Amino acid sequence: MNRITKAVFPVAGLGTRFLPATKASPKEMMPIVDKPLIQFAVEEAVASGITDLIFITGRGKRAIEDHFDKAYELENELMLRGKSDMIAALRDILPKQVNCIFIRQTEALGLGHAVLCAKPAIVNEPFAVLLADDLLDAGTPVIQQMIEVYNYYNCSVLGVQDVPREDTRSYGIVAAKPLTERVEKVDAIVEKPNPDVAPSTLAVVGRYVLTPRIFHYLENAKPGSGGEIQLTDAISALLNEQQVLAYRYQGVRYDCGSKLGYLQATVEFGQRHPEVGKEFAEYLAGRDALKTN
Ligand code: G1P
Repeated sequence: MNRITKAVFPVAGLGTRFLPATKASPKEMMPIVDKPLIQFAVEEAVASGITDLIFITGRGKRAIEDHFDKAYELENELMLRGKSDMIAALRDILPKQVNCIFIRQTEALGLGHAVLCAKPAIVNEPFAVLLADDLLDAGTPVIQQMIEVYNYYNCSVLGVQDVPREDTRSYGIVAAKPLTERVEKVDAIVEKPNPDVAPSTLAVVGRYVLTPRIFHYLENAKPGSGGEIQLTDAISALLNEQQVLAYRYQGVRYDCGSKLGYLQATVEFGQRHPEVGKEFAEYLAGRDALKTN
């Protein structure tokens, strides 16, 4: 069985929900306090044993490449000012054994197409997909939990959680039968169904472990929901040939693709921040006290 060492980060999306902030800079570079969203996803992957990071980028995403590159001028300037702690923070963004591969998605044809763009870098291995919009806070990184499920069952695994029925139109939704407390066997999957026709309320979040057979179905996929090549449709086709599992991950998800989720993450991570966390928590508590007076 193949060990999972490669992860795909589709980062070509336009980020229209955060305009004007995302007019000239990538949504994946929006920080939670002082760490960009994409770095959270990369750290999750690296902590899970991933050594090859494959970014599917597009126009206006150069900042992501620069973020994971060495910043000579900045390091030099910090050195001259004696700020060695800051230099360490810059250097520690990626461990040495990790490689970054950047592939350009020249047309915004959808998530499925973005994943297909990673094929030349993956060829015939199982791999992980992480959507940086979904910030998953967990003791054991969620993608590691899913890799463990993959290692046991040797098939594709989708990270899932229950959502309110009115929200099914925002997610890939699975129909599945429980195998264990957290693992279910997927019978069907549909992209963004209306609540009245959704087969369940079990939603796919932005974490996948996929077998390379998915590329065959992505190559043959027709435009689906929103006129885009959907990863969900290729998974649906894959189901006719291979088992696919849904895994109810352990952890808390912040939907940082929405303003509310982004703010919630900022408040939670802000209170835990080593430098300002304590003061920020006191500030929030003080405001609550003011309101009740
Ligand atoms: C994508 C997928 C969807 C999945 C969601 C998770 O949708 O197409 O199946 O449930 O990510 O965040 P998007 O949020 O990019 O519209």
